[in-house]
Amino acid sequence: MRTSADWLRYFEQNSQSLLEIPWHAGPELTAQERLRLGHSVQEFQRGESSEGRHFLRYAEQYAATTGDRDYVSALRLFIAEEQRHARDLGRFLAINRIPLVASTLPDRVFRMLRHLLGSLEMSIAVLITAEIIAEVYYTALRAATDSVILERLCEQILRDEASHVEFQAEQLAKLRASRGQLLYGLTVTAQRLLFLGTCLVVWVFHRYAFEAGGQNFGRFWHSAWFHFERAFASSSRSRRLQAPEAAARVIDWQKLLATPYGARLDTLCAHPELIHHGYLSRRYRTAPNQYLDVFEDLDDGQWKYCGFGWVASEGAARIVYLREGSTEVGLAELPPTILLPRPGVLSVEEVAEYGSRTEPESFSRYVDLTHQVSFGDFRYHYRMVSPRPSDVPIAIQVHRDSGDPMLRQKLGPIEGLGGA
Ligand SMILES: [Fe+2]
Ligand SMILES: [Fe+2]
Repeated sequence: MRTSADWLRYFEQNSQSLLEIPWHAGPELTAQERLRLGHSVQEFQRGESSEGRHFLRYAEQYAATTGDRDYVSALRLFIAEEQRHARDLGRFLAINRIPLVASTLPDRVFRMLRHLLGSLEMSIAVLITAEIIAEVYYTALRAATDSVILERLCEQILRDEASHVEFQAEQLAKLRASRGQLLYGLTVTAQRLLFLGTCLVVWVFHRYAFEAGGQNFGRFWHSAWFHFERAFASSSRSRRLQAPEAAARVIDWQKLLATPYGARLDTLCAHPELIHHGYLSRRYRTAPNQYLDVFEDLDDGQWKYCGFGWVASEGAARIVYLREGSTEVGLAELPPTILLPRPGVLSVEEVAEYGSRTEPESFSRYVDLTHQVSFGDFRYHYRMVSPRPSDVPIAIQVHRDSGDPMLRQKLGPIEGLGGA
């Protein structure tokens, strides 16, 4: 699960990598498209436009109690994206000489629901319903038109909305993390009922647009619930990782440093989550950003600890530290101070910058493969442990190649042992 700082970075980057919209194409809508789609696009354009004042106020309150200021900043950029959707759709309507609408009944109901309880959770719970519907709607709209402007707009909005759904789902998971199982079950049921009602209303008001996009009620219904289940599956998973029992699984990394390689996994952690099973080796996740590597000891058939890793956040291209001692069972070697989890030096680039600045004689960026750097006798091998194929390496594997018995003394006392 990403942190608010990760989301802030995502929104900043996204605003710099938008698709080119071919505005020069001019008014393209045919009379039939205007008839079938015009009214529907007007309503969605209206739905996208919001200043988000209440939402921001709830976020400010949340930040005041949790200290998560980045959430407010990320939310501002999220609102700016929705406003861009509204602005672009408005421009498209204007080009085709279709007027904007001031307010519609479903829009008014939605806005009212969002402020019903005056809480951040309720705002997001209602908003994510609209975000999921948007994923289905803009897919249909893209298929329903021959307008190159509208097609490209739908493409851009769909890209944005996929991340919006994740952003909201993860925040809901954080807000619902401490809720008991029964109450959480009731919350999800309420969320389903809201979605069910929304689907029916959306079909009644926008059925012509969906049909023009090749979706009958059955397909629309199936697609809507598919997106819903996907959003809340990730939300539930994130929630499990946020829950107190998950927090109890986090192993203090100082303890891991002091634990000899070859210690039994079950002495370190009771319920780790298996995420990779290879021949004689496994990787477990013990917290959203913590991994343990174990090997099978053929002598007694036990799974034993041989390495650990920390990543700054999932899905983000940031390293904290991964150490692996696959060759020796015994007391762990201490890594150079630079690789210990501490703020400031987290990415491949930062490690490389540090190396060339502080140890220009012994440092080299690439030893023999593209994902290696070396400091003196130590070689560091970056390895992809990211859950997504598109991510760049997010962890560093430290593998001692050649011995330097003096290294520990050279390093002196370890600084920054503050946990990840
Ligand atoms: Fe949007
Ligand atoms: Fe959105």
